[in-house]
Amino acid sequence: MTRVYVFTNHKGGVGKSTSATTIAFGMVQMLRYAKVSNPRVLLIDTDSQSHATLVTTGRKDYGTNDSLYTVLMADRQSAPQVLRECIVASEWDVDLHVLPASPMLEGAERELTGVAGAPYRLADPLSKIANQYAAIVIDTRPSFSLMTEMGLIAATDAIIPVEPRYLETVGLTSVMNKINEIRDGWRHPNLHVSGILVTKMDSRVRGHNHLLNELQAHPTLGKLLLGVIPANEAVSYAHRQHQSIFAYDPAAPASKAYAQVIGTLVRAMAGA
Ligand SMILES: Nc1ncnc2c1ncn2[C@@H]1O[C@H](COP(=O)(O)OP(=O)(O)OP(=O)(O)O)[C@@H](O)[C@H]1O
Ligand SMILES: [Mg+2]
Repeated sequence: MTRVYVFTNHKGGVGKSTSATTIAFGMVQMLRYAKVSNPRVLLIDTDSQSHATLVTTGRKDYGTNDSLYTVLMADRQSAPQVLRECIVASEWDVDLHVLPASPMLEGAERELTGVAGAPYRLADPLSKIANQYAAIVIDTRPSFSLMTEMGLIAATDAIIPVEPRYLETVGLTSVMNKINEIRDGWRHPNLHVSGILVTKMDSRVRGHNHLLNELQAHPTLGKLLLGVIPANEAVSYAHRQHQSIFAYDPAAPASKAYAQVIGTLVRAMAGA
């Protein structure tokens, strides 16, 4: 079964889109290097801000006919075909495909609220095409909206990016509770939290070290620590040029840290 990773946290600016795009691209490269016959990865952008779409495809003007919005508005029968038609190749790698977000997703939440089966409008068609990909990565908006719920329902693995200053257990526990609520409330037993990813870590800041130590020592959360990505301005420079950090500077501290995380995920995929 193809793993579907959703990057989620209702806090804004914690590195969801950076991590989703970097990890999706890095997986393609690592799978290709390992000579896997199909290294293709699909990135799905569910955030109407379209940051992940913009950096990976160079555009963010997708709309009624060529985006996730189109898929959500399609009738059940035609949705898988519509999904296939809306997927585009990224500018980063031929094997990194993107289902673009659209500013229209903002309205879709209102249009679909209360519509029976609405939360499954991504999961259902996606399940029909998932086996064409080695992995699927979903980026979400900074809220627990219907759109984020759709992403979680379509996923098998939730990864929670978190900045060291937001590491307090209360915040993390509320994200985990939300994920558990989706798993139980929507009878989606396959969904589990597969990792907490600490982002923008500055080891010169005492508070960051203190919070990271606390997380590592925590009896349940500590076991979920997937990796620590250093604060590294190369990330912002790469973004500004719509480039992956790996293409911008493979030797940057953030590139090395992301590569480790991708290695862990790819090994877990192989063992699945
Ligand atoms: N490791 C890092 N070092 C330095 N800057 C980073 C790092 N990771 C992300 N950033 C910067 O932080 C900002 C927010 O990152 P990003 O857009 O990935 O977060 P997000 O959680 O997707 O935000 P939103 O909640 O708005 O969707 C961006 O300007 C990005 O360039
Ligand atoms: Mg984002």
